[in-house]
Amino acid sequence: TGAVGQGEQGWKMSGSKRVAVIPGDGIGPEVVRSALEVLDAAGADFERIFLDIGCGRWQRTGQAMSDEDLAAVKECDCILFGAISTPPDPNYRSVLLRLRKGLDLYANIRPFRGSGLDFIIVRENTEGLYSGLEEVGVEESRTLRVVTRRGSERIAEKACDLATGRRRLTIVHKSNVLRSDRLFLEVCRSVAARRALDCEDMLVDAAAYNLVVNPDRFDVLVTTNLFGDILSDEAAGVIGSLGLCASANVGPAKALFEPIHGSAPDIAGKGIANPVGAIRSGAMMMQWLGEPQMAERIEKAVEAALAGGARTPDLGGQCRTEDITQAVLREMGGQN
Ligand code: IPM
Ligand code: MG
Repeated sequence: TGAVGQGEQGWKMSGSKRVAVIPGDGIGPEVVRSALEVLDAAGADFERIFLDIGCGRWQRTGQAMSDEDLAAVKECDCILFGAISTPPDPNYRSVLLRLRKGLDLYANIRPFRGSGLDFIIVRENTEGLYSGLEEVGVEESRTLRVVTRRGSERIAEKACDLATGRRRLTIVHKSNVLRSDRLFLEVCRSVAARRALDCEDMLVDAAAYNLVVNPDRFDVLVTTNLFGDILSDEAAGVIGSLGLCASANVGPAKALFEPIHGSAPDIAGKGIANPVGAIRSGAMMMQWLGEPQMAERIEKAVEAALAGGARTPDLGGQCRTEDITQAVLREMGGQN
């Protein structure tokens, strides 16, 4: 199987929670290592099941993730994920998409904090243009965009949970062109009304523009799968760097936590990847595991380290991955 041993480097193995750790390819292992160091320092107590899944595995064995791996993942409470490269194989099915679908991780929650901004994109994660329903031809290819009432309802509920006590909920759609988005909009509006939450809606092109010229006006955005994918990379640029951003892919029973940057093969192994996205993903994981104070403590330490000038090259600085990790650890030590 893909299990490559547990408790590497003497990391703690006790605790009742089981976390599948998938470092993956490129900078994935480097940033996951940082995240685990920070989690250790915060006193996080969970069993780690390391799984060798990804492009490297595919190159060695012809398979990126086996059925046994998926079964092993299902035995865990949640997943801490680094990044996985896409192998140059036309028949390859994205591991990340298989995990999202296989574990029904329907809500992709992406908080954006930085440059004085603080907003969340809540992205539907299992349907839309990622339906996988495709017809591929030489002269014509089609991808079916699927919007269901149930899918829209549950993502709207999740967005309303997150918007409760915050400023504003914005439903992002393209219902002037896509009839599938009329359903999405209608369902999101009625869920918000039932929850007595004020909401507005915005066409996706206008949202893309406003994210650049007036990002401050946003608070919680809820949208369909591909729009959320695109807007979240844009949002990362607006707050400063993809390297700062974390995400939680949440389902009814399981969850997967990953930095939203990819495997970045160009800088892999150089020790200069920004670990903040992975560290924040670890914090989101602790929140999901029922340790909100621990999550808060990590986030505060990250913010203090950044405010103190800890910056990797993606932010125009010269720090190395390890410098950022140490800065965060120092800030955690200085808390209390
Ligand atoms: C993301 C990524 C993925 C997506 C890819 C790697 C399949 O871009 O998590 O945003 O499109 O969802
Ligand atoms: Mg993306």
